[in-house]
Amino acid sequence: MCGIVGYIGKKEAWPILIKGLERLEYRGYDSAGIALLDKGNFSVYKKKGKVAELSKFIKDKNSNELSGGVGIAHTRWATHGIPSDQNSHPHLSNRGDIVIVHNGIIENYLSIKKVLINKGYKFKSDTDTEVLANLIEDIKKHEKVSIDEAVRLALTEVVGAYAILVLSKDEPETMIIAKMGSPVVIGIGKGKSKSEFFVASDATPIIEHTNKVVYLEDGEIAIINKKNKKLTLKIKSIKNNAIKNPYIHTLKTKIEELEKGGFPHFMLKEIFDQPESLRNTMRGRIVFNKGSIKFGGLEKFEKEIKNLKRLTVTGMGTARFTGLIGEYAFEELSNIPTKVEYGSEFTYRNIADTLNTGLIAISQSGETADTLNAIKKAKKEKMLTLGVVNVIGSSIAREVDAGIYNHVGPETAVASTKASTSQVLLLVMLAIYFGRMRGLSKIKGQEILKEIEKLPVLVEKILKNAKLIEKLAKKYKKYNNFFILGRKYNAGTAMEGSLKMKECSYIHAEGCNSAELKHGPISLIDKNFPSIVIVPMDSMYEKMKSSIQEIKARGGLVIALTTESNKELKNIVDDVIYIPKTLEILIPILAFIPMQLLAYYISVERGNDVDKPRNLAKSVTVE
Ligand code: M6R
Repeated sequence: MCGIVGYIGKKEAWPILIKGLERLEYRGYDSAGIALLDKGNFSVYKKKGKVAELSKFIKDKNSNELSGGVGIAHTRWATHGIPSDQNSHPHLSNRGDIVIVHNGIIENYLSIKKVLINKGYKFKSDTDTEVLANLIEDIKKHEKVSIDEAVRLALTEVVGAYAILVLSKDEPETMIIAKMGSPVVIGIGKGKSKSEFFVASDATPIIEHTNKVVYLEDGEIAIINKKNKKLTLKIKSIKNNAIKNPYIHTLKTKIEELEKGGFPHFMLKEIFDQPESLRNTMRGRIVFNKGSIKFGGLEKFEKEIKNLKRLTVTGMGTARFTGLIGEYAFEELSNIPTKVEYGSEFTYRNIADTLNTGLIAISQSGETADTLNAIKKAKKEKMLTLGVVNVIGSSIAREVDAGIYNHVGPETAVASTKASTSQVLLLVMLAIYFGRMRGLSKIKGQEILKEIEKLPVLVEKILKNAKLIEKLAKKYKKYNNFFILGRKYNAGTAMEGSLKMKECSYIHAEGCNSAELKHGPISLIDKNFPSIVIVPMDSMYEKMKSSIQEIKARGGLVIALTTESNKELKNIVDDVIYIPKTLEILIPILAFIPMQLLAYYISVERGNDVDKPRNLAKSVTVE
């Protein structure tokens, strides 16, 4: 899983490529590299570490070494081979005639490598990508074909996932792009600079240059080259060379949405975005007089949706945890038996009966391979597939039969925040939507909708107290273990809270259903093992209070997260975080926020790289 960027046009390519890599760094940041093509010569620069390292290295070069209006670049999340300069992309072929960047995995690379080694090819890296570069070179040499045909033929031999950009010395005004399983977008230059193209793993590096884009589909190869002094784009099928007609999308994302907006980190900005992002998620969808919801994206499938007898909810990481909350909502409001599955497991196990079963796939990025594979499996099983996705035009959004978008704008920090609260909100809204087709009363629908509409203001109220949570972070930053406990809707909240602590603060936090505590985990409790207990004044309040007593009786520290009117807990626990009152089904949306803030502030206190925690990537496009 990596980010790729390409530019071909009249401008100097390298500043555009470096900026593009910075925007794509969320996809991986083990190493970065750039290849420029000028007057038939390649200059390739690569560096282990973040894009900033590469940028510093490049800025020290003289302008001759950096000239070129054609270039490709890459930011890596290691799959084959350790993060190192050697394994960084771009990769040159043996003769140095072809250069390539790749996002994905070539599964049969070892058998191809063996054949190439027998032919005398040498390899400098451990990557599958260098194998592909040499396979293309070998085909070009033996078949005496153009670079696009050589790439196409090579791709008919590989098994796996890829988005690749390829340049060849022999055809210096040509760029080849191909896709199977990994995303790639082509931006078409506008105005005077129409004769230029921008390519990237997603639209964030492109949007400041043009809003006209083409999403390459699986199995397609695109050729950008010069015809009558003008660059043109042609798309063909990898399988049979058939010409495809590109559909040009007009993007609406604004560039300011991509910036930090004055906050020290994207994560904090995105936490504070939540009143607005929740408004955007519900905008235009609440039909109060009917006590229902309108989802334009689902209308075409209303008949199939009415016939659904069961639901499987899938996703990974945060998306699966929000799914756990959705499970309770679907069973309570829609009366549909529901289960939650890891995308990774659903793909590889036997599914007993799929008749009238719908799959709801949740994904911020819309690119998570485990989730995408689950959708493909569900489609084979003839299940109706529905998506809850943030990134418009992403692979999952295009793969599902129908879907709804979060509309929270780009989420850049690796830790999911505004997408997660929006996911919970959309799942509750979906539960109302399904429920109104299955006997949920209009009055009950209206009662929940009224509370949903209040959420942005309640979130603003929580955010006003961020300083109190910053203080708690200073107090608790020294602990290396935490329990996060909840029940019913907030069992999922506890899991999500613990994931935030792990990924941002590097603290071992265990999200646990508090009823389970007494069945084993409680033996871990001592004065160095604090618990965050999600104990709002809801149907589980008394049970949760018992869990607190059990922990206190064993000398454990407790931070209680409770409803603002609750006065009794402050005398029992060590610290209290208050959230405003709302319906039980909506509490997770409010309870997520103090957890996000606590994980954020502890991460800052510990000096971690908040937006790009170690070993992680924003979008996990490998299995
Ligand atoms: O883009 P997705 O929602 O499909 O991503 C799924 C997980 O990789 C993601 O939620 C991950 O767990 C986040 N880093 C959590 O903050």
